[in-house]
Amino acid sequence: EKFILNGKLVDRSEGYVDVEDRGYQFGDGIYEVVRVYNGQLFTNKEHLDRLYLSAEKLSLQIPYSAEELTKQLQELVTVNQLNTGIIYMQFTRGTAPRKHQFPETSHLTFVAYTNEVERPIDHFEKGVSAILVDDIRWLRCDIKSLNLLGNVLAKQQAAEKGCYEAIQHRGEIVTEGSSSNIFIVKNNELLTHPATNLILKGITRQVILKICDEHQIAYREETFTIDDLLHADEVFMSSTTSEVTPIIQVDQQKIGNGTPGALTRQIQKYFDQEIE
Ligand code: PDD
Repeated sequence: EKFILNGKLVDRSEGYVDVEDRGYQFGDGIYEVVRVYNGQLFTNKEHLDRLYLSAEKLSLQIPYSAEELTKQLQELVTVNQLNTGIIYMQFTRGTAPRKHQFPETSHLTFVAYTNEVERPIDHFEKGVSAILVDDIRWLRCDIKSLNLLGNVLAKQQAAEKGCYEAIQHRGEIVTEGSSSNIFIVKNNELLTHPATNLILKGITRQVILKICDEHQIAYREETFTIDDLLHADEVFMSSTTSEVTPIIQVDQQKIGNGTPGALTRQIQKYFDQEIE
């Protein structure tokens, strides 16, 4: 199994990252997770666009063009013989004596590896349950940064209650999942939080909205409340690994009749077609 360290393919045991890497000490870096289906990178361009955008927002200069990066990632998938799974990549501000402000000179640390991850077919068919948690994160959730402690604490609470996802809210407004975007369906219309600083603009979310445009499914990128969520006809979450996963129960309360909804199933079918 190989991984990429600063542009080179190395054995997992060969590479190391310094103890004073700013990703390790400050979470000073960004990441992306790209899906791989049948050995092919899915929506890679969209993920790299977001990566460069996150970099810009943190004044990080990625030393590769999107074409160079894509070539490296494809090579990684090939040498690791990955069929269905993910690529995880991250860039940090590099290694320097520990000071909060940016170091005067540092080279970004770039790491990428692959993992086999099956599509969660069982979840697609049966749905999952979720809990509601206070969104305690910072105000730049639009940046895909390594600072994930708020998300980690939210997901841990869900796990402790035997649930798959934690749905976060600021006051009455539902923002997003701990590692996903949230959609509700009411009267055959989709609602999802607008892509502001309070959520990550998910690539899967974008694919779903494109599907809606192509198939005349009504949607609005508008905020909705906890009450709207609990009384929705359908609820689902979206992410690179979870794709379109129905949420059938929130805080022990059934959504609709407690089974994956018809529109959710329809969007799953259209999503399948995107992958093929
Ligand atoms: N999570 N919101 C948050 C907070 C996320 O961490 C993610 C993705 C999403 C969905 O984005 P996308 O559709 O681009 O995957 C929304 C990734 C997969 C992760 O941290 O593993």
